[in-house]
Amino acid sequence: MKLFLDTASIDEIKEAAATGVLSGVTTNPTLASREKMEFRSMISEICSIVSGPVSAECVGKTRDEMLEEARSLAEIAENVVVKMPMGEEGVAACAKASAEGIKVNMTLVFSPNQAILAAEAGAYFCSAFLGRIDDIGWHGMDVLAEIVEIYANQGYTTKVLAASLRHPLHVTEAARLGADIATMPFEVFKKMFKHPLTDIGAERFLQDWEKYQRAITGA
Ligand code: E4P
Repeated sequence: MKLFLDTASIDEIKEAAATGVLSGVTTNPTLASREKMEFRSMISEICSIVSGPVSAECVGKTRDEMLEEARSLAEIAENVVVKMPMGEEGVAACAKASAEGIKVNMTLVFSPNQAILAAEAGAYFCSAFLGRIDDIGWHGMDVLAEIVEIYANQGYTTKVLAASLRHPLHVTEAARLGADIATMPFEVFKKMFKHPLTDIGAERFLQDWEKYQRAITGA
């Protein structure tokens, strides 16, 4: 499962990219609104840091507006993937954009049927919003499991992107269920590295190494 960062923060993206395990970035209008940067410049800079897919979202309401935006966003860089929202307009725009060779990330997917529509429209990614499903008292992971199963049964090539992740367990579960990608906030990415036993173990190894060196050198 590939790891994407769900942020528009250049600092966060640089830090995560430096670990060598970051494969892409997803942004959305909310995340963009937190940064003091013009949108196209922001996407362009992110694309220069990360060689993998970088999602930039359409804000048009009609299929024609979205298609026009998609063509323009796709020109920013080769690794731009255009996000389009689930719905009749978004699906119609996705079908046309995909037919033109523009990669589309169908966003705001909350059900298996919506995921089927995304795949039939030729989406490159289907973003299932797990945390927001949990927020309303349903099991986001159950929806993800159904989507993964359906895509495998149907031979869909659209990649399943587990989105709206809120904590490290979401990442683990998404991987267990067979999601192709997990996109996560920076804090969740950072938490993936952490385990108290790792910290204790590393500290003990260093102490023992120093003891050993002192014993050898007699210092
Ligand atoms: C990513 O593509 C989504 O826009 C994002 O994961 C949504 O996350 P949220 O539900 O925490 O806003």
